[in-house]
Amino acid sequence: MEQPAETVAFDEVELRRWRADDIDTLNRVATESLAHLRPWMPWAAHHDRDAIAAFLARSDEEWASGQAYNYAITSGGEVIGSCGLMRRIGLGGLEIGYWLHPGWTGRGLATMTAAALLQQGFALTGTDRVEIHHDAANLASEGVPRRLGFTEVERVPVPEGAEAPGEVGVNVIWRVHSPAAASRPSSRPGHGLRPGHG
Ligand SMILES: CC(C)(COP(=O)(O)OP(=O)(O)OC[C@H]1O[C@@H](n2cnc3c(N)ncnc32)[C@H](O)[C@@H]1OP(=O)(O)O)[C@@H](O)C(=O)NCCC(=O)NCCS
Repeated sequence: MEQPAETVAFDEVELRRWRADDIDTLNRVATESLAHLRPWMPWAAHHDRDAIAAFLARSDEEWASGQAYNYAITSGGEVIGSCGLMRRIGLGGLEIGYWLHPGWTGRGLATMTAAALLQQGFALTGTDRVEIHHDAANLASEGVPRRLGFTEVERVPVPEGAEAPGEVGVNVIWRVHSPAAASRPSSRPGHGLRPGHG
């Protein structure tokens, strides 16, 4: 099966595929980040070492099946967060997810991460769109697709309501279409993606 690169260098970040032996590193980075993640990431309410081990095992399985490609975000050799490309928005679609350790926010590193994943996603055959979803109250997350020229396409109330304490329970969907799809006669016009992270 066609897969993205296991390591991706982009501007000031390098993404590398998570491995089972990253457990101590990821456990430390997630533990240090919990207060900052809890408002937005439901899993942060149940974080412990076993949950991290399960995530790493699942990441291996999902990489093999093509269901998701999860990476450590590193900068200057240090692990600073986690991100992934997920196949959960239907045929031809990939969704990007990300979080950073709070000591590394405000420098454009999440935006660089998403730009790197966007390139990897569109390099996979059959990808016609990439999306970023976030809760409407999560303005820091919203900044990432906005800076990369994604288009906001929909605001969808989540049937179950908010899943984490900072959320209002409305999912904002940002989308960018494949440049290749845009050049086909029947498809939509091109997107506003700028290379890099302007
Ligand atoms: C969502 C999250 C990753 C965003 O982090 P972030 O630091 O705001 O995003 P970036 O790393 O792209 O940094 C952007 C900031 O750096 C600034 N910046 C500096 N240099 C930059 C550069 N070269 N390129 C882009 N932005 C740059 C931007 O102006 C922006 O500043 P602002 O926050 O004052 O507007 C972070 O808030 C987080 O981990 N949140 C908790 C988990 C979460 O919500 N995940 C998403 C769930 S949907």
